[in-house]
Amino acid sequence: MSVEDTPRLAWAITGSGHFLKECVALLRAQTHVDVFLSQAAEEVLRCYHLPLDLPETCRLYKEGAASAPVVGRFYRGGYRALVIAPTSSNTVAKMVFGISDTLITNLYAHAGKCRVPSIVFPCDTESELSSEAPDGMVAVYPRRIDLENTRKLVHMEYTIVAETVGSLDAELGKLAS
Ligand SMILES: Cc1cc2nc3c(=O)[nH]c(=O)nc-3n(C[C@H](O)[C@H](O)[C@H](O)COP(=O)(O)O)c2cc1C
Repeated sequence: MSVEDTPRLAWAITGSGHFLKECVALLRAQTHVDVFLSQAAEEVLRCYHLPLDLPETCRLYKEGAASAPVVGRFYRGGYRALVIAPTSSNTVAKMVFGISDTLITNLYAHAGKCRVPSIVFPCDTESELSSEAPDGMVAVYPRRIDLENTRKLVHMEYTIVAETVGSLDAELGKLAS
């Protein structure tokens, strides 16, 4: 089986600035990854002046066609896992209610329908957070609905929730071994 035929890691980035820099650092350590950006992710990466600088072995996909035809790759065994890191409140809410109307929510829904595991790093993990905004640290108080949605994620099929950068790194390590 050539490298091209080997199932890849799919990594989705949403428009969450919380731990974005750390997620991008973990992403850059990967090879043979397909990277998917929500429209908001593209904007937020620019706000943080964070270029992805991906090696040539990686492929980059942006929000485009409404039907997200790229999800077909899950049905042909193209991906061994999906990582969604970081995951915005908006995308988490859609994921736990089964909505798939964006590139990233489509990836998640169809990964699940193909029994491919998703590692999800949600931004709303605690009722009080310190988060790095483009111009410095800010306090964030996720609402009850945000925290409830994060809790619902653990009950979703084929979903592994990583609540810290350390646990995201550990889950990525398990995929590599
Ligand atoms: C600089 C910046 C940082 C942001 N950080 C967050 C965040 O940490 N968490 C979050 O839920 N939304 C954050 N947002 C708002 C999201 O980008 C917005 O809700 C967007 O609609 C999410 O779309 P997506 O889920 O399709 O990526 C941020 C926006 C900006 C401009």
